[in-house]
Amino acid sequence: MLERLQELREEALQKVEEAVDLKSLQDIRVSYLGKKGPITEVLRGMGKMSAEERPKIGQAANDVREAIATAVDTKQAQLEKAAVEAKLAQETIDVTLPGRPVEQGNHHPLTSVVEEIEDLFLRMGYTVAEGPEVEQDYYNFEALNLPKGHPARDMQDSFYITEELLMRTHTSPVQARTMEKYKGKGPVKIICPGKVYRRDTDDATHSHQFTQIEGLVVDENIRMSDLKGTLDAFAKHMFGDEREIRLRPSFFPFTEPSVEVDVSCGICHGEGCSVCKKTGWIEILGAGMVHPNVLEMAGFDSKKYTGFAFGMGPERIAMLKYGIDDIRHFYTNDKRFLQQFKRV
Ligand code: PHE
Repeated sequence: MLERLQELREEALQKVEEAVDLKSLQDIRVSYLGKKGPITEVLRGMGKMSAEERPKIGQAANDVREAIATAVDTKQAQLEKAAVEAKLAQETIDVTLPGRPVEQGNHHPLTSVVEEIEDLFLRMGYTVAEGPEVEQDYYNFEALNLPKGHPARDMQDSFYITEELLMRTHTSPVQARTMEKYKGKGPVKIICPGKVYRRDTDDATHSHQFTQIEGLVVDENIRMSDLKGTLDAFAKHMFGDEREIRLRPSFFPFTEPSVEVDVSCGICHGEGCSVCKKTGWIEILGAGMVHPNVLEMAGFDSKKYTGFAFGMGPERIAMLKYGIDDIRHFYTNDKRFLQQFKRV
């Protein structure tokens, strides 16, 4: 029996020595020291031994068990240490490697232009107003002196949702909404940037959805010269101090008189070139003095109050400012286009 125990001891120690991972080590522990292992079996059989043999065998079995347990523990510690070291070696960080640059995004050029225009008008004492993109026919047309059946409604082919609801075709409905809110009492001084929708076929200069910025000033003694001075300051700010504006007579049902506003061509400075179609001038926006009917419908006394309004397209402003030749660039989101507008 003693021999058998010694054999077991050697065999187990050998196996422990050879164990390559924690899993096989655990298997060895279970198979030699577990409840069903050979040593437990020896101890279990001690009842049948003589009184002389019993303590010797018992002692020997315990020694063997102790020796195996110690060997397993030692080996386990070694294997665990080796595992940690291997992991550390694998995860070494080379701090001398150059870093990977994080790609930085930038504002969309349209956002930048809208913000630049907003900033300018905020500095001139305007506040920013907003209105819904799904608009009532009343605000989009009727309150702007365009009753049902008015021929000028044809100027703006619209996306109707119901008879009375449509995607707004311009930001001018915000004029009517804002004046209503002021309940007949000036001054009103707002700009309103936002998306507008028209049933256009998209091409280099048309888009079924684009942006506008509306401006509205209503107070006592507001005159056409106030409009002209404001737009002159705007054009010089956006395009450069050397630029001039000119007003041409035009027609909008909600302004009287109405004008179209041109800025002098930045390429030929008035000489005439292909960008300004040989005229020396480039159209940038529509404007006019708020029509008395519009003031009255929104609850303002048109004998006491006058006002001016303008509406411009930031896409067009951005195209002129940056020499962009196709409005679709704003919406197709080609990174090569967008990344040119990084502010450094
Ligand atoms: N709403 C007009 C348009 O979309 C522009 C405009 C605004 C004209 C305000 C005059 C006054 O064409």
